[in-house]
Amino acid sequence: GDLGFELIKMNFVKKLAESPDLNSIPSIYTYTTNPNESPASDPQDSIPTIDFSLLTSPDPSIRLQVIQKLGNACKDWGFFQVINHGVPETLMNMVIEKSVEFFNLKDEEKKDYEEKDVLDPIRYGTSFNSKKDEVFCWRDFLKVIVHPKFHSPNKPLGFSEVLLEYSKRTREVARGLLSGISTSLGLDQSYIEKALELEHGLQVFVVNLYPPCPQPELAIGLPPHSDHGLLTLLINNGVGGLQIKHNDKWVNVNDTLPNSFLVNTADHLEIFSNGKYKSVEHRAVVNNAVTRVSVVVANGPSVDAVVRPAYELVDEERCRAAFIPMKYEEYLEMQQGNQIVGKTCLDRVR
Ligand code: SIN
Ligand code: FE2
Repeated sequence: GDLGFELIKMNFVKKLAESPDLNSIPSIYTYTTNPNESPASDPQDSIPTIDFSLLTSPDPSIRLQVIQKLGNACKDWGFFQVINHGVPETLMNMVIEKSVEFFNLKDEEKKDYEEKDVLDPIRYGTSFNSKKDEVFCWRDFLKVIVHPKFHSPNKPLGFSEVLLEYSKRTREVARGLLSGISTSLGLDQSYIEKALELEHGLQVFVVNLYPPCPQPELAIGLPPHSDHGLLTLLINNGVGGLQIKHNDKWVNVNDTLPNSFLVNTADHLEIFSNGKYKSVEHRAVVNNAVTRVSVVVANGPSVDAVVRPAYELVDEERCRAAFIPMKYEEYLEMQQGNQIVGKTCLDRVR
């Protein structure tokens, strides 16, 4: 046989976790936490909640209030939960259900989607970047580019319909939030939409599958990182594991409101706002009892947009932009093509 090929063959965690008598993890999954970082605790203050429906209230004072709250959530947390967003609960449940069905397909059925290039429109893979990672993440994933051009695996049955609808509905939520965020920055409500060409904005749908892990304290689902793009919307199957960095401490995100979206600010919002709204670092831990599934939608600029700090937000006295301009596509290649380590990708354009 072709040994070279065998060596680079992907080893999915789901398969590994299903092997009988697995009571320790292979050494490639042994992750050492940065000793300067404390383990996560539960948050002292409650995570901000944004009532999406208030953003379009006929009462201007109510709109103003929720926009301020949204601005503070971006500034103080980079993370918030969104309620009354209008996306049907049945659709949110379906998207998780169909995503799980995808992972449960036979190997041959998923093979066509196995990752070849980091910018392929459909990528089924494991870890973060299995070509570059020294320590593997206890995670399998499916990443699909759903906008500006819609893609979808053609299996399982009904997946692509659900995906298309979910992509449209979540894009509306992201658009509404970004218009509120634009206003909260003192800019016209459509400023971000126009400047970053959101009509052609990149939207990436990601499912993360974290199977039970026999030694959860030695492994990591996803190491600390920030996301590319503007806003990430996340839902999960009710199993905790997401942690965010708040005031330099890791906190658990467990008790969230039903049918809410967990939203985090991403790198291109930090760049655009000239550092006013920082992208939040987050990570996923694993457990030894149940499979955790998270469904993430990353909403970004157009890949052709050159992202730079809005000049209205550049400190006039010091007259200094905190980031250099870079085409979103270039940033994507840089982030997706390397290991993912905290905010080191953003640091490269600082
Ligand atoms: C992610 O950062 O993309 C996923 C985090 C999670 O699984 O909660
Ligand atoms: Fe992330």
